[in-house]
Amino acid sequence: MLGAETSVQGSQFGEDKFAGMSINVTPSGQVCGASVTGVDLAAPFEADVVAEIRAAWLEHHVLAFADQAMTDDDLERFTLAFGGFGDDPFIAPIEGREHVIAVERRADETAPLFAENWHSDWSFQEAPPAGTCLFGVTIPPTGGDTLYADQHEALDQMPAHLRSRLDGKMAIHSARGGYAPDGTYGDDDQATDRSMAIRPSEAALATQLHPIIREHPETGRLGLFSCVGYIIGIDGMEIDAARDLLFELYAWQTREEFIYRHRWEPNMLVMWDNRSVLHRATGGYDGHDRLLHRTTIAAA
Ligand code: SIN
Repeated sequence: MLGAETSVQGSQFGEDKFAGMSINVTPSGQVCGASVTGVDLAAPFEADVVAEIRAAWLEHHVLAFADQAMTDDDLERFTLAFGGFGDDPFIAPIEGREHVIAVERRADETAPLFAENWHSDWSFQEAPPAGTCLFGVTIPPTGGDTLYADQHEALDQMPAHLRSRLDGKMAIHSARGGYAPDGTYGDDDQATDRSMAIRPSEAALATQLHPIIREHPETGRLGLFSCVGYIIGIDGMEIDAARDLLFELYAWQTREEFIYRHRWEPNMLVMWDNRSVLHRATGGYDGHDRLLHRTTIAAA
């Protein structure tokens, strides 16, 4: 299942602990995603290591680093190395941290799964986060995979008749379906036994426009940005026609051939590029706890 491995040798590390470091990038063999070894994310890293990881991230969109005994300090340091903290609304951070949230579910929890719908994180913001970092603390023995859908491939392979209807269109994004008081995680959800610290608010009613087809701000590669859910309409288009087009788009952008399935391990860090992929959580681990710590990387 694994593809060709590329090895990047560290060369400027002198006498310090980075001497001889090499970063190995192994593609998943699926449409996107790669695993990275040869770097200790619990130790300080040099600018050229960050540059190598960034290059791999831009190429593969989702990077997994296994066997990383990271603390929240390490997670924050990693995030800052790639652009600073994003602004995470509607979910309270864990105690003692401003920028780390817990994605968690208890073994006996009955509230609906969090983040089970495809999305690009916080795409309703004016400057949505470039990336997200998720660190596996407690990982169930079965289930709980995260799925990623490559939105560059989805656009590249899109039939011309669909693409021509999307070209030049601006999507209306909003968090209202999820985080407004009457949204999925709104007042009714507060009455469930959900362990996540979700904080619905009227602020979720705000809207923001982004092109449906847009250039990746770092690579320039064209891709589809976000999907129905956070996208609630198309600017200038009648509501029913927009909804039909958005669901047609959704069916295309989440096709099996564009999906990378990520299997978690404890002590694994995954960083993904919200400008390139959609993602969603999956269940299948009832009876087991699941806990991951998450930060977002601010827009470049
Ligand atoms: C997320 O969307 O941040 C969570 C993904 C997951 O729980 O697998």
